[in-house]
Order: sequence, then structure tokens, then C-alpha cells
Amino acid sequence: MLKSPKTPDTHDDDSNAGRRVPTPHTGQGATQIPSADRDLTGEIRVQQAAVRQEVGEDLSLRVRNLSVYYGDFQALDSIDLDIAKGRVTALIGPSGCGKSTLLRCFDRMNDLVPSFRMTGSIDFEGEELVGYGVDPVVIRRRIGMVFQKPNPFPKSIFDNVAFGPRVNGYKGDLKELIERSLRRAALWDEVKDDLKKNALALSGGQQQRLCIARAIAVSPEVILMDEPCSALDPVATLKIEDLMRELAEEYTIVVVTHNMQQAARVSDYTAFLLAADDRTGRLVEFAPTNDIFTNPKDSRTEDYITGRYG
Ligand SMILES: Nc1ncnc2c1ncn2[C@@H]1O[C@H](COP(=O)(O)OP(=O)(O)O)[C@@H](O)[C@H]1O
Ligand SMILES: [Mg+2]
Repeated sequence: MLKSPKTPDTHDDDSNAGRRVPTPHTGQGATQIPSADRDLTGEIRVQQAAVRQEVGEDLSLRVRNLSVYYGDFQALDSIDLDIAKGRVTALIGPSGCGKSTLLRCFDRMNDLVPSFRMTGSIDFEGEELVGYGVDPVVIRRRIGMVFQKPNPFPKSIFDNVAFGPRVNGYKGDLKELIERSLRRAALWDEVKDDLKKNALALSGGQQQRLCIARAIAVSPEVILMDEPCSALDPVATLKIEDLMRELAEEYTIVVVTHNMQQAARVSDYTAFLLAADDRTGRLVEFAPTNDIFTNPKDSRTEDYITGRYG
């Protein structure tokens, strides 16, 4: 259940409630009129209304006609995207195309930005992710986030992983849960004798695996990762990539990455986003990762993955 046990109108942390407005500019349900658009090479091309490829698998998240605004600026336009359950989906595209914005819609972190507004819908496990009575705190337990820079709390390793379960009033065997989470994050063997050590004393790669353990400890269904390896060295990066593949057996993972090899190695599906001159991000292509990298349908995708612009 996405709804909090509280009555819908008493939750005051849902700062986005009521901000969703109908989509005036696209007229959802009406015929979409393709608009002329200029791509990065200066060529005028017809922008398809929205790219949609259904994955034909069980879905965790279903994004439909999602547009996002920060004040007057439109950051994302008419995104349609299926996130398959128990798979790794990579979001790729040049800086500023709206990858983090899209990811932050999934765990309702954009709600904390006063100028943020969205239209369209995001369905999570058959229920609206955004709406009256949906508690963002509940969402953030079910959909965890791992950030670009490892951000452990200045506390012991144990207390970092125990943080979420404690906040949620975990009644089981906490020690067992901490061990299980650290094992799952491939960190246990390195820290089992040092659980009282301050997490900030760990290496960057260990800190990131600790953040993954912390995310796992509250048993989320989805783990969002925003460039989780960009602050790490190549060895630590490979460890996190291996871990992502392992975690995909149990969780749905959405990962933003600038590293094409990483997207190719870890993901099952890839979504390529691009912002045109108006700086508004659109989904250019979405497909099984192998198809995107071996046989991209859109020339802009090919230009990006072959490094022609970044
Ligand atoms: N809080 C915000 N307020 C205003 N504009 C923002 C905010 N966050 C992001 N943007 C803008 O939205 C666009 C997409 O940003 P972002 O999602 O961070 O892109 P990416 O993660 O792909 O680099 C950029 O033009 C960025 O400047
Ligand atoms: Mg980003």
C-alpha cells in the first residue's frame, strides 16, 4: 500500500499534493501533433510525440506522459517509460537532459523543490505514486536512493545500516538484519570485525557499498542509483557493477550513468534522454540494452553512444 496509515488530509509532508494539474499543453487523449524540433547538429527534425516501447514484462514503474517543470522552465517533456520489475534499467544522456530529475520523481525527492511541478502519471505497482494521500515517506522506504557521492552518516558502520530499520520501528533481530544487509552489499567480510568503526573511515568504494546496505536494510522494492560510481576508482566501480547485477535478482534497479560501458555491462534496458535547444529533456530511444548499443534506431542515440557529443 502506498497510502500512509494516517488519514490523507492530515499529512503535511506531502508538499506536492495538490500541485498536479491537468496537462493543458498536450491535451492527453487527443491526437498528438508532432512539433518541429531542432537537434544538436542544427538539423530540423520532427519530434515524435513520445517514445514508447512496452517491455512485455511485469512492471514496477509505469511512466505516462510525464512532464516536469521547475517554475517556468520545462525540464522533461511527455516521458513514457516502462521500468521492468527485477531488471536493471539504465538512464543515459548528456548532462542536463533530466536524468536526475526523472529519478527524483520516482522517490518523490522533487517534492522538496518548491518550484517543482509535474503533469502526467507514474504508476508504481498498480497505484499512483503521486497524489492525495500518498505518503512520500512510505514511498521512500519502498523506493530507495543511492547518490553519486557516498553519503554515510558520521556514525558507526552498524548504526548507519540500523538507521532506517530503527526509524521504522524494526521489531526483529537487528544484528541479524545488519549482517544480512552488509552481506547483500558485498561488504560484510571487510567490516565484520569493525562494526563500531566510524563509517567515514571507510574507503569511497566501501562507503558506497555501505550506502547500498543502508538502502537494502529497509527492504525496498526499487533501488535508484544516480551515477553511483562516478566518484569511485575503477576497481571499486567494478565491485559496484557486480553488486548491481546480483541485486537485480531481488530488486528493481534504475541507474543513471555517464559511462556507456557501465550501462552496457549492467543494464537490461536503456533509456536515452536528450535535451534540444530549449533545454527540455525528451526520451529519444528506449530498448533492450543490447539493441541500443548494437543497433540504435535513432541517429542521435548513435551519436551519443559513439561519443560524438557528451
Ligand atoms: N531544483 C532545480 N531548479 C531549477 N532547475 C533545475 C533544478 N534541478 C535541475 N534543474 C534543471 O533541470 C534540467 C535537468 O537537470 P538534471 O535532472 O539534474 O539533469 P541530469 O541529471 O541529466 O544532468 C537542467 O537544465 C537543470 O539545470
Ligand atoms: Mg544528474
